[in-house]
This record gives sequence, structure tokens and C-alpha cells, in this order.
Amino acid sequence: MALVTTKQLLLDAQKGGYAVGAFNVENMEMVQAVVAAAEELKSPVIMQTTPSTVKYADLAYFYANVKTAAQKANVPVVMHLDHGNCFELAMQALRVGYTSIMIDGSHDSFEDNIAVTKAVVDACHPSDVPVEAELGKVGGKEDDLDGGEGGGYTVPSEALEFVNATGIDSLAVAIGTAHGVYKGVPKLDVNRLSEIREVVSIPLVLHGTSGVPDEAVRECIKRGICKVNYATDLRIAFTKGVQEVLQANPETIDPKKYNARGRDYVKQYVMEKIEVCKSVGKA
Ligand code: 13P
Repeated sequence: MALVTTKQLLLDAQKGGYAVGAFNVENMEMVQAVVAAAEELKSPVIMQTTPSTVKYADLAYFYANVKTAAQKANVPVVMHLDHGNCFELAMQALRVGYTSIMIDGSHDSFEDNIAVTKAVVDACHPSDVPVEAELGKVGGKEDDLDGGEGGGYTVPSEALEFVNATGIDSLAVAIGTAHGVYKGVPKLDVNRLSEIREVVSIPLVLHGTSGVPDEAVRECIKRGICKVNYATDLRIAFTKGVQEVLQANPETIDPKKYNARGRDYVKQYVMEKIEVCKSVGKA
């Protein structure tokens, strides 16, 4: 199948009361793992890369990997730019062929966030590429993206104004999650999520989901989350596999040997999270 956009995928999820998992990929094996999990469970899936990932190897490398995976798959696959940190990067991703773009102006003022987000929407919509943006601050650190302490939760009335002013297709909300590894169990403000849902009709996105208890994620989906982002736990799963092989056989020199174990562990993790998102059989 050709790559698809998040537009219809998330609207279908919203209507059906489930979410689509969005998984950050760092290499070919992680791409293979995510698509294999989605195929086995007949689920749509989103793969995404952050600015630091595309700095490591440029957009075209990741795009080529995910496009190849999509072409070989018989489930819908999206290539999404996660946390696009400036207009220029969003445009590069659009030109390379990404089928969904996030612009993250959440660390700017409300007005500047609107301005950069609207500029990206105006540039992407003529090509039918949907745009995700963030309002409020999801804290924590992901790669070299530092969200700081977070704590700036999304204000429902601002969310409505933001969506109307920008024309975005989906909104990432700050309700108490953070990127990276949690120190304790995160406490989510799910009532705030419901309040946002009441005033904003577009699909809502949950960031910082690694380490969030599955039950809490299910509750968020019930209250309007249609896209759930997982990154840190995929890195942990992949690394665990590699470490296991190298610790047991330190003389191993073939990357295929240890990468394959990493790939297996990522696939296992992604299958679990697709179940949590309730998107099994929705492809
Ligand atoms: P985690 O790294 O906490 O899973 O967050 C992922 C994310 O929100 C990517 O945008």
C-alpha cells in the first residue's frame, strides 16, 4: 500500500472510539518491527521521527525505510514528523514526502504558536497533508528536545481559540504526561481532557505515553484521544535485545544477530500497545 495520511485514519478512530498508535522509529529494524506488529494485528499504524532523529540521518533515509515498509504491507501506514521545531523542517518533511506533519510551537507565546502553526497549515493543506500542533507544555526530555518541567496544562478555552485560528487537523494536549522515563506513576488530569473534548471537535493526541499505565491510556481514549505516541519504551526494548545478545556472546560481530533480538522486542512491545489502543482489526 502507498503511505496514507493521518487525516482519515484519525477521524475513523474518533468515530470508532479507538486510537492509532504512533511509534518513534530510529532505524530500519524498528521500522520493520512496528510494521510487522501492525500487520499481525491488522491495525493501522503511524511511524514518526523527531528532529534529533532526522539530524542523525536525514529525513530521506527514514522516509525511504517507512515508505518501503508501507509498500510491502497490507495495513495503512503513515510517515509523520514528530515535534517539528520550525517552519523550515516542516517544509523539508513535506517536500520529502512525509504524509503527516507536527509543528510544535508550544514553547513560544500563544500568538507565536498560532502564527507558526497557521503558516505550516497553509503550506501543507494544499497537498492534503494534515497538521498536528501542541498547546500547553508536555514536559520531560526526549532525545535532545527538552520540554522542561512541563506543568503548563492545556486550557480548554485557549484550545478552542487555537484550533479555530490555525485550522489544524489534530491537537496534542498537555494533561500531565511527560516525555522520557517517569520517576513515579504519572497522574493525568482526565477531567481536563474531557473539557477540551467538549469544546474542540478535532482528534486529540497524547504525547509522553511510555510508562503511562495502560488503564490510564484506555481512559484517555474513552475521553477523546485518537493518537497515542510511544517513543522511549521502544528505545528501551530495542537496546535490551541488543544488550542481551552481546552480554551472552561478547564475541558477536554481526549486527544482524543483535539487531534481530532488538527488533523482536520492539515488535512485542508495539503489539501490546496496539491492543491498548484498541485498533486491532481496524486496518
Ligand atoms: P515517550 O518517549 O514518553 O513515549 O513520548 C513519546 C512522544 O510523545 C513522542 O512525541
